[in-house]
Amino acid sequence: MSNQAETLEFQAEARQLLQLVVHSIYSNKDVFLRELISNASDALDKLRLATMVDKDLVADTDDLHVAIEVDRDARTLTVRDNGIGMTRDEVVGLIGTIAKSGTAELLRQLRESADARASQDLIGQFGVGFYAAFMVADRVTLLTRKAGETGGTRWESAGEGTYSVEGVDEAPQGTSVTLHLKPADTEDNLHDYTAEWTIREIVKRYSDFIAWPIRMTVERPGADGAEATSEVQTLNSMKALWARPRDEVDAAEYNEFYKHVSHDWADPLEVVHMRGEGTFEYEALLFLPSHAPLDMFAPQGRRGVQLYVKRVFIMDDCEALVPTYLRFVKGVVDAHDLSLNISREILQQDRQIQIVRRRLVKKVLTTVKDLKANHPERYRTFWTEFGTVVKEGLIDDTDNRDTLLEILSVASTNDPAELTDLAGYVSRMKDGQSDIWYATGDSRATIENSPHLEAFRAKGHEVLLLTDPVDEVWVERVGEYDGRRLRSIAKGEVDLDTDEEKQQAETEREQQRQEFAALVEWLGATLADSVREVRLSSRLTTSPACVVGDAHDLTPTLEKMYRAMGHEVPSTKRILEINPGHPLVAGLRKAHEQGDSSETLTETAELLYGLAVLAEGGELADPARFTRTLADRLARTL
Ligand SMILES: Nc1ncnc2c1ncn2[C@@H]1O[C@H](COP(=O)(O)OP(=O)(O)OP(=O)(O)O)[C@@H](O)[C@H]1O
Ligand SMILES: [Mg+2]
Repeated sequence: MSNQAETLEFQAEARQLLQLVVHSIYSNKDVFLRELISNASDALDKLRLATMVDKDLVADTDDLHVAIEVDRDARTLTVRDNGIGMTRDEVVGLIGTIAKSGTAELLRQLRESADARASQDLIGQFGVGFYAAFMVADRVTLLTRKAGETGGTRWESAGEGTYSVEGVDEAPQGTSVTLHLKPADTEDNLHDYTAEWTIREIVKRYSDFIAWPIRMTVERPGADGAEATSEVQTLNSMKALWARPRDEVDAAEYNEFYKHVSHDWADPLEVVHMRGEGTFEYEALLFLPSHAPLDMFAPQGRRGVQLYVKRVFIMDDCEALVPTYLRFVKGVVDAHDLSLNISREILQQDRQIQIVRRRLVKKVLTTVKDLKANHPERYRTFWTEFGTVVKEGLIDDTDNRDTLLEILSVASTNDPAELTDLAGYVSRMKDGQSDIWYATGDSRATIENSPHLEAFRAKGHEVLLLTDPVDEVWVERVGEYDGRRLRSIAKGEVDLDTDEEKQQAETEREQQRQEFAALVEWLGATLADSVREVRLSSRLTTSPACVVGDAHDLTPTLEKMYRAMGHEVPSTKRILEINPGHPLVAGLRKAHEQGDSSETLTETAELLYGLAVLAEGGELADPARFTRTLADRLARTL
């Protein structure tokens, strides 16, 4: 090997990539340090492996580490490792060319895509790696010696078309990369990378969990004129808990780590620690918090899962890894085979990431299922805090719908305090009951006092009481559980009588139908602006009237929700059901028969309708008119 200096040209693709790195793609220049540290860490891993495989390899592995050195006067920053190093040929091959397949094609696309954002996405498909150094330096020198060899190699380039390589007789084991820094330019996001605190922060942010110590010598001014001192500090914590086997991590360590990633003050409710092997390796350490964050329902609320690639921090709030309905899950996913530079957009489409996401979701849900079966107290905490959000999953995560329905708990008329699950409801269903009944409303109290519930109460049929806005949506979407229809007590015709009871009641019904036919017809015409039909009810026992929808109608709550979201929704007229057994209805029939003044009669009809709307917790179109009429009417009774 000759020690002669040579000037070589970068391979064409490498030159183009360099151009891109330096001039366009990255607004966040700080990541250059992450790239260099990641390379150094790889080099240390490789050396350790090499000495294990090859017992004859002469290399010093006593103190493997990364060192960051700064020369403020010369404005240089050096990242040094005592890892595997490179031979001259490797330097030329690895640094001077881009070996990755498909790069040429990618670069062609990049050149052709005029818009900057598309370029960002494309570039996310491979790492810019070592070349990131040229974002912050106008000259880079690399000195390296391959473990087991005596001579080293010096490489230098200004990142323009060429580089020089020469052999050197002596070089320390491993690689050092020295950046001759560009002047700081904060407007261009170029910080002063000789400043201790800048370096410290970048290392903490991106490289904290790197498995090797990252050291730096720091200067401290002496107190009261004493001499300045310097000491070597390790900047990273190295504690990548997720990479350790589960049985070697204790609860206190998990808790501490949780607080670190979540900024929560309380301990987590549950730890989910998993690893995937095979074609796509990853580790995941996720946590179910013990309380909901304040921004859980904020439109821009963040998700809590961070993405790492081989212990290098890539991004916060990685939406590609968890669906919105698990946005409260906190933790870390470390995927081994991704590019450090991968963009959010690419991640969303990455097949491997989609597989990981599916596994994470399954695992989180089975964890909750397990809590429900074995730790009811903790499950209850979980459901109280996050149930509302988890229910969003029932709307569009059809893959996991069954599991979601298993972990679901809702209030029910069965018990005033305890929630029930659907299996519990089914086990208590009456003989001959084929549907699962539910009622929706703003609060448990409103629903319980709603006239719709009367017949169910009279017959002793259990009804699920759903009070979250999202409930309206998922019950519609899900439609059935365990082969039984989920049916609203406020929609369609309700007939809870058995066939026998029906037969008995039939004559009475028929008679009522005839007696009330004229009133029903008149009411229908009189209230035509408010309801689309009037009919006799079989769901009322004590209330005079109620309003119901057709099986496929939007409920008033849903209508309100859609409007709040800015959708145009025509308002649906509903059906007024009247109770022939109620004195008010019976009296109204008599008055109508006798041909009472139509004005008073119309007022009574409007009052009857208003009462039905109020009873279900609804809103009147004209409350002032309603109260005025009612007050007049009351005054006349005194
Ligand atoms: N400190 C180092 N010690 C030994 N080899 C190095 C070092 N830095 C870079 N290399 C070699 O140069 C190659 C190119 O580095 P670069 O960072 O550009 O890409 P990468 O690390 O392979 O991939 P990426 O950084 O995109 O994940 C590395 O694969 C490695 O073989
Ligand atoms: Mg790299």
